[in-house]
Amino acid sequence: MDFSIKAFDTKNTIASAKTGCVAVAVYENKKLSLAARAFDQGGEITAALKSGDITGKAGSTLLLRGVTGAKAERVLLVGLGADEDVSEKSFTTAIGATLKAFAQLGAADAIIALPMMEVKGRDLAWAVRAIVCAAHESVFRTDGQKSKKDPAPTGVRKITLAADFVDSKTKIALAQAEAIANGMDLTKELGNLSANVCTPTYLANTAKKLGKDYGFDIEVLERKQLEALKMGSFLSVTNGSEEPPKFIVLKHMGAKKSDAPVVLVGKGITFDTGGISIKPGPAMDEMKYDMCGAASVLGTFRAIGEMNLKLNVVGIIAACENMPSGRATKPGDIVTSMNGLTIEVLNTDAEGRLVLCDALTYAERFKPAAVVDIATLTGACIVALGHHNSGLFTRSDDAHEALAAELLAAGKEASDTAWRLPIEEAYNEQLKSNFADLGNIGTPGGASVTAACFLENFTRNYTWAHLDIAGTAWKSGGAKGATGRPVPLLSTFLINRT
Ligand code: BES
Ligand code: MN
Ligand code: ZN
Repeated sequence: MDFSIKAFDTKNTIASAKTGCVAVAVYENKKLSLAARAFDQGGEITAALKSGDITGKAGSTLLLRGVTGAKAERVLLVGLGADEDVSEKSFTTAIGATLKAFAQLGAADAIIALPMMEVKGRDLAWAVRAIVCAAHESVFRTDGQKSKKDPAPTGVRKITLAADFVDSKTKIALAQAEAIANGMDLTKELGNLSANVCTPTYLANTAKKLGKDYGFDIEVLERKQLEALKMGSFLSVTNGSEEPPKFIVLKHMGAKKSDAPVVLVGKGITFDTGGISIKPGPAMDEMKYDMCGAASVLGTFRAIGEMNLKLNVVGIIAACENMPSGRATKPGDIVTSMNGLTIEVLNTDAEGRLVLCDALTYAERFKPAAVVDIATLTGACIVALGHHNSGLFTRSDDAHEALAAELLAAGKEASDTAWRLPIEEAYNEQLKSNFADLGNIGTPGGASVTAACFLENFTRNYTWAHLDIAGTAWKSGGAKGATGRPVPLLSTFLINRT
């Protein structure tokens, strides 16, 4: 998909635009949007509404050809709901319908002239992002590992967004939207790849390629170096696997060298069998998605690389497999983490926190402005929040309240929302072990919270937030596939820090 944004006004009219198709909005109250009025010189649109050929309901469409006075070959009428007070839901439904119609056209280019400025509570930048991300999603394919490819996407490949005016801000909004959509595409591709292909080594190679493309400094620490760093907790998870672990560090230095960076830490379990505490068979294939935190760090790096964001950002990915074997960590084994705390591994399936805690200790060396970890950490987060919101956890002093507010706002702005859950000392009681400093699971109840509290023990030296994306990173069932979340939230959070 190729996007551009262009201003149409009284001189450079939308009716005189030469293109395969122009999409314009109509409403259930039979009113026409400004752009629709420009194509109603012969009364065809008014007649279509009057006759009931199109209702104006959000997502209804009608394709007209040979419209009086139009230079475009076709005009696509798109319903935008009850009236000109456009809801977010109506707008996204209408975009979906527009893209579906575009895919069936015998035209390669089109203009979307929907009223991007009229969405209640939203601005032009939001509408541009909504269109660009939906367009990417509409042509996204999951046939990379099929011998017979799915039919190639057809129809419109080049979309022009019609704006009232175009200034530098508008152009930046489009560039940011494309960067976020491209970042999401990478995150989805990595998530969907089977675990025999998308190994820790594959993630490291992807990071190296990003480094070449965007000039990031990349470092991949191997087992020997991890041993020297005393990452006993991370390494305990890799014991049962034949795949070498990779600890990947990416650096984007977009600001002054002395500026404290934001550090993103991703859980990169390329397959989670549960280890000796092995998972049940049904749906275990979905544990190939247990590296979606890592994939969202790589996707966000692609986005900030494309935007050349004026911010220092460090990405850390702790990548390995969690497998059972004769060498695997056993329930009850006690390991020593990089910061010296000993951990009783009561359940080898609570492995995410074991890899993250050492990555979070490693993050200290960057003297970060803030650290955000992203992890498919707990099934309990799906019980708590379903698939709509990622779980957000922070401490609750002033600095952390501010960070939580920033992340929640970025999620809202990007339509990639998070919901806050608590971190309190009381939950730490649940992690007590008779034999080590900490157990890796809590007593029953609040499993997402005790997981976050476990991590909290390793983040006392900086401002930190934890995102549990177990419910939001991928979809199950017939539409199984990675979502690309929370790349929009993370990218928006970083953009807003510049
Ligand atoms: N990767 C899983 C969490 C998960 C499970 C995410 C299902 C999405 C869907 C994680 O490593 C895990 O197994 N967590 C355990 C923790 C428990 C042993 C305390 C869980 O959620 O069951
Ligand atoms: Mn697990
Ligand atoms: Zn896991």
